[in-house]
Amino acid sequence: MRINYNGMTIFVKDNYESMSKKAAALVAAQVTLKADSVLGLATGSTPEGMYQALVQMYLQDEVDFSEAISFNLDEYYPIDASNPQSYHYYMEEKFFKHVNFKEGNNHLPDGKALDVEEACKAYDEAIYEHGIDLQVLGIGNNGHIGFNEPDVHFESSTHLVKLDVGTIEANARFFETIEEVPTRAVSMGIKNIMHAKKIILIASGEAKADIIEAMIFGDITPKVPASILQLHNDVTMILDQAAAGKILAKLMAA
Ligand code: PGA
Repeated sequence: MRINYNGMTIFVKDNYESMSKKAAALVAAQVTLKADSVLGLATGSTPEGMYQALVQMYLQDEVDFSEAISFNLDEYYPIDASNPQSYHYYMEEKFFKHVNFKEGNNHLPDGKALDVEEACKAYDEAIYEHGIDLQVLGIGNNGHIGFNEPDVHFESSTHLVKLDVGTIEANARFFETIEEVPTRAVSMGIKNIMHAKKIILIASGEAKADIIEAMIFGDITPKVPASILQLHNDVTMILDQAAAGKILAKLMAA
């Protein structure tokens, strides 16, 4: 199902797999139409299926990343790229090593930078120099995009973030104990995200239903960082039925 609401395109898919395939199809279309596309990429559990679908498409010769460039949204801090919990490691294992990006074309914030401020500045400069064509986003239960937590400054660029208690709790499932979850991260800011030409936001599962409703129908407020996307002129949301559980009736009535 495809619905247009308030300038946004919203796809509601039956389940996680069809949500993932739809997202992969849009990323592949972007790279097919513009081979040297600059992709903004996300981590977390939601995009895993999308990366799997893109790898399948690559293996079947349906998409080619040889000219594409990528910038990831965020990385824990401090963390070594070789740490299996790092987003460097995640991207390498789940996507990059299976497809054909040219070496040096994949960028992530440096989780080990000695001068974080300088590293954030350099990351911003590289992003602005290239310009992101398509930014993929997940959404946290608290409305964060990237690691831009509630009470975010909408005008922020890449910066060091102190993670929300809720985010640390949500991410604890990837670690042995909650104490191991890093408490800080380097994240693109809302300004970087809003600068992308197109945005795709994916969400799956009932736990995301309330925040999806707040993001689409609520006020634009730093308390719900993703609500700022109401002001972006090219947002496509791809949700499964469960994540769309609180908005379907409202969208039908609109
Ligand atoms: P998740 O995280 O995909 O693991 O739910 C989303 C996010 O925090 O942005």
